[in-house]
Amino acid sequence: MNKFGGDWTENKIEILVEYAKAYLTIMNGFAKKYDWKLLYFDGFAGSGFITKGNAENQKIIIGAAYRILEIINPREFDLYYFVEKDSDNINLLKKNTIDVFPNKIIHVVETDCNEKIESMSKFLASIKGKRYKTLAYIDPCGMQLNWSSLQTLEKLSVDAWILIPTGMGVNRLLKKDGKISDAWLNKLEVFLGMEQKDILSYFYKEKVTPTLFGDEIKVQKEEAIERSAELYQERLKKLFKFVSKPYILKNSSNSVMFHFLMVSNNPSAVKVANEIVSKYNKAS
Ligand SMILES: C[S@@+](CC[C@H](N)C(=O)[O-])C[C@H]1O[C@@H](n2cnc3c(N)ncnc32)[C@H](O)[C@@H]1O
Repeated sequence: MNKFGGDWTENKIEILVEYAKAYLTIMNGFAKKYDWKLLYFDGFAGSGFITKGNAENQKIIIGAAYRILEIINPREFDLYYFVEKDSDNINLLKKNTIDVFPNKIIHVVETDCNEKIESMSKFLASIKGKRYKTLAYIDPCGMQLNWSSLQTLEKLSVDAWILIPTGMGVNRLLKKDGKISDAWLNKLEVFLGMEQKDILSYFYKEKVTPTLFGDEIKVQKEEAIERSAELYQERLKKLFKFVSKPYILKNSSNSVMFHFLMVSNNPSAVKVANEIVSKYNKAS
């Protein structure tokens, strides 16, 4: 598998796997000393494999779930929790995880990721849950992650890699002329956790056009994708002590699709994440 400068889907998984190995190395000693349990949580787990391209030129990539499960050095996680909403994917995912790794403690759950993040947060905040240290992977295909779900993770011992659909999601809803449907504004509100008026004033400015009646219209401020990435990072900094630099995922026409970053309350964790991210950004 091409490790650097390859396809962004592969790079995203390589970043996660490299970080997971570093995480397990660092946490190994602490887990033994303090009897911690290490939990891996994947909120958008897929089917186990990712198919790219068309029938003639198809490529199959091993998904993150399998790549994390196959890690045995320096150690394994104590518990794996995979969430997936699609029932076809769930059946495949069970075959590609539980059936292949029968000796590991694996939960595969068919539900909405937001619901499970919230119930996991409640558990981690409980007396029993405080023994658990979590690495989370939040890899949606669009704007399915609600801001209110992330808020529940605040102050917990969770390192979370998050894929932010800056180009593929937010920017598509922010129409250049500011005429955004109520449904799209609601989506932005839930995704960003901001009021509609604040979203509009962040992304748009009023401009008086020289029409007969001097109508005021909204126009989008420049670089909406970069601005959405900055906004999301600033908002994450209010929930987590540290936010890593993003790995920027671009398509073959060099357009930005996603920003991929890690949040944590641990400074060493983000230092490691930044080192990995900068390596992949340089190679892209
Ligand atoms: C980008 S794919 C995940 C790929 C996966 N991480 C891998 O490495 O193979 C996103 C997955 O999220 C699932 N999904 C979409 N909305 C969801 C939701 N609200 N909750 C949980 N899963 C969801 C989709 O069915 C899809 O399988």
